[in-house]
Amino acid sequence: MAKTTMKEFPLSKVFQLIEPGPVVMVTTANKKKNNIMTMSWHMMMEFEPPLIGCIISSSDYSFAALCATKECVIAIPSVDIATKVVEVGNCSGQDVDKFETFGFTPMSAKKVKAPLVAECLENLECHVVNTTLVNKYCLFVLEVVKAWTNPDRKERRTIHANGDGTFVVDGRTLNLKAKMVKFPSLV
Ligand SMILES: Cc1cc2nc3c(=O)[nH]c(=O)nc-3n(C[C@H](O)[C@H](O)[C@H](O)COP(=O)(O)O)c2cc1C
Repeated sequence: MAKTTMKEFPLSKVFQLIEPGPVVMVTTANKKKNNIMTMSWHMMMEFEPPLIGCIISSSDYSFAALCATKECVIAIPSVDIATKVVEVGNCSGQDVDKFETFGFTPMSAKKVKAPLVAECLENLECHVVNTTLVNKYCLFVLEVVKAWTNPDRKERRTIHANGDGTFVVDGRTLNLKAKMVKFPSLV
């Protein structure tokens, strides 16, 4: 297991990690092995407890693991590992050990068996809390039960998928806090 230190991240601020829509990775652990996939189809559904809706295809190895274990970790990568993130999303845990193949380091989570990813900026431990739309849309609703940030990572820019193999990297921040009059607690 890695020496990287993960600092606890407040659940009340988890929405600020997912709301910008970064490409993330999802780890699962079934009886056979740890696995990791790439995911960009996700959305925030509730502030606290933080709920995240995710589309995970039924043809993915991760789908079966998630259905069986009802838990996973959402790991948020930065731009410096973007190539590996895309490679992880182009092969299956059915055929390869992706942690080993791509040199990602699993770390023990506190509340789930799925591992944190040491190389990522943030890691969100999640329980599946609703499967109503899994059969129809492969839509899992996840509750984040523990969150971690890696303060040692210098590169903090995330990537955002255009859906064609190109990605937008975080850039200029527009500060419109003065206009957020309806939501003073958020600014
Ligand atoms: C940038 C990117 C985003 C992706 N987003 C999703 C997604 O939101 N949902 C999904 O089911 N697959 C998504 N994929 C595809 C899976 O990561 C891919 O099918 C992967 O091989 C599944 O791994 P597994 O079989 O080990 O679970 C994405 C792939 C890439 C490269």
